[in-house]
Order: sequence, then structure tokens, then C-alpha cells
Amino acid sequence: MLDTVLIKMNTTNKNLVFNILTILLFGVNSIFAQSIKYSSFQPGEIWKDNNGIHINAHGGGILYQKGTYYWYGEHKIEGKAGNAAHVGVHCYSSKDLYNWKDEGISLSVVNDTASDIQKGCTLERPKVIYNAKTKKYVMWFHIEKKGKGYKYAHSGVAVSAKPTGPFKFIGSVRSNPGHWPINVLPIHKQPVSDYVKKTYFPGGGFPGNIDTLNILGKFFDEGQMERDMTLFVDDDGKAYHIYASEYNATLQIAQLSDDYTTHNGRYVRAFAGLFMEAPAIFKHNGLYYIIMSGTTGWLPNPGRAAVAPSIWGPWTETGNPFVDADLETSYHSQSTYILPVAGKKDAFIFMGDRWRPDNAIDGRYVWLPIEFEGDKMVLHWYENWDLSKFNSN
Ligand code: DGJ
Repeated sequence: MLDTVLIKMNTTNKNLVFNILTILLFGVNSIFAQSIKYSSFQPGEIWKDNNGIHINAHGGGILYQKGTYYWYGEHKIEGKAGNAAHVGVHCYSSKDLYNWKDEGISLSVVNDTASDIQKGCTLERPKVIYNAKTKKYVMWFHIEKKGKGYKYAHSGVAVSAKPTGPFKFIGSVRSNPGHWPINVLPIHKQPVSDYVKKTYFPGGGFPGNIDTLNILGKFFDEGQMERDMTLFVDDDGKAYHIYASEYNATLQIAQLSDDYTTHNGRYVRAFAGLFMEAPAIFKHNGLYYIIMSGTTGWLPNPGRAAVAPSIWGPWTETGNPFVDADLETSYHSQSTYILPVAGKKDAFIFMGDRWRPDNAIDGRYVWLPIEFEGDKMVLHWYENWDLSKFNSN
């Protein structure tokens, strides 16, 4: 019947019918796509946004602002090539933490070979904080130049007047050039001593770059390396940049300037020589807690945790916070952020990535409630959980 009608129609009318059918088909499709309503977290499963598409915000972090959560993360594409930044930083918003609305790309990479955020660069672990004085949203992220591996070790900074962007890239930095950390050791200020040379190279034959034995001193002039990173704003409004430095051997914690767009010269070294990545930090009952990972690329490893009375330390390691089966892979995840749940006492959510380096876009999210045993935090595995988990707190 439809066939006969179509044959009798002229081309314009046929196109019209085709267009109407297409609109109906896509309309029905998107009604179905939008009908998914979540009321719990399912760590490691596909997690769809309001358009029915798996959330694309890896290595992410969350900003809470006036009743809305904003989730920022790396937008990945298909395949191995998808680990590089071909699109930018994706932003989603939510009122309840389960259901997320696609807010689009908040910071776009550019088609400019002179820019650090050139399409195809490595742009990782974006985090956004709000500066009440400047009324600006400030984004920091780890940046590596296109095709240059992980040598550049800089952080990019971008600002926006709105939480969803567009963020304007203002440049990239190494941290605190010309400044020693608060806990600098005398040895850092000296050339590598004969004693050190003899100890490590008893037969002579020093490497050309003998200064790498004093990594901190080596980067004193140009600024410290910055790779995996997070941001933390304390109760007094002071903000901190926490990043893997010194070839990822040592974590550095650096205070930001009042406008949050650069470092202010004050920083410490923590966990010197212990090789940790993926820092995620929060404050609870006056203590500072951090969760990190070891350094095994995209492969998961046992988590690390530590606590300190001040953000400047001293930090005391408390062991692997993952305590159930698969604890040696942190439940196949790597930390990225710890989210304080608004309006709930003592409620913190661990956010981790389950990377899929062979098909980057398929990376999953592992969100779990942080639980405390005394002052020690632990992460149990839950296949399915919701915010009522925090009701007994
Ligand atoms: C581990 C880091 O935590 C990730 O952000 C990423 O840089 C991968 N290494 C790359 O291998």
C-alpha cells in the first residue's frame, strides 16, 4: 500500500515523507534513550547520559555549585588513538549524582600546531574549582605536547565565566620555577656530591646527566615537572595543586595564587621516591586524606592511602584502602577524585577510572563510598549501591 502511494508521488513529496519518517524514528529513539532513570551506582558498568550515550568524562573531577554537580573529564574516542585528546574536556551536570545531562565540550582542543592544546595532544585529569573573588571557574589539567610522549610534564590552565564553559586556555606551566619547597634538604641545593657519586657509581662512569640524582635541583630553574594531578580547595578558600613530580617519583603539593591561576611559591615534597600517581584528596574531621596508585601506566595496581594533620604533612601511609577481592588491582580502577556529597555528613565518594587503553572511549567509572574504620579509610566493593549508604553516618 505504502509502496503504491510512494510510486505515485513526485520526488519532492517522497523526500518529505522520508524526512517525516526519519524525524519520527529519531524522535522515538531519543524518547527511549532519555527514559533511562538511574537511582543507584553500578561501578564498572556502562553509565548513560540523558541522550543514552555512555558518559565520556575520564580522569575526571567534580565541582558542586548552587545545587548542581558538574563532572569534567577527558573526552576519549574509539581505539588506541582515543587516549590522546582529539576533542577536549567534556562536561556533564547532575542534581542527584545518578543522572547526568550532557553539557557539551567545556574546553576544546585546537587546530593550531603552535598551541599546547593542539588536537592530538595528551590532556589528562582535568579538574575545575570556583574562585569566589574573581567569580571565575578555573580548570587545571596535565598537558603533554602532541607526539612528544610524556616529556613536557606541564599543567594547563583555563578559565571561564560559566561552569559549563567555554573555558579559555590561558597557558601551561611547570610549577614554582626558582622556588625551593618548604621541606627542601641541604643536599638539593648542592651539586651532586662526590659521596653520592661514589655510592651509586663506585667504578666511576657517571651518566651524562648526573644531576638527575638530584631531580628537584635539576628542575629548580625551569620549574618542577607536573603529571597526574588534582586540585583541592580548603575551608579557608586556599587552593592547592597536587601532582606527581620528579619523574613521578615524588608527589608535590603546591599552593595556588589567590586567583587560582598559578602557583604562589609555597610547596612541599611528599612521599619522596615512592612513585605514586593519580592523587585524590579530601578533608574529614580536620584530617587530610589522600588516595593514590602506583605507577604502572594504564594497568591497575594496588591503591595507596595516607593521612596528615595538615595539607603540608607529615603524611603517614595507611596501606591499600581497597580491602575486598581484587584489592591488588584496586577493583580494576585507578583513583581520580574524591567527591564530598553535598548536604550529607561524612559522605565521600571515591571516583576511579577503569581504563580501556585499546578502546579508550569504553573506559568505565568505579564510584564507591568511602568508609572509615577509626581514622583509616577503607573501600569495600559494591556491585550496586546508592546514597542511602551514608544515612547511618
Ligand atoms: C597513568 C596515569 O595515571 C594516567 O593518567 C595516564 O597518564 C597513564 N598513566 C598513561 O599511561
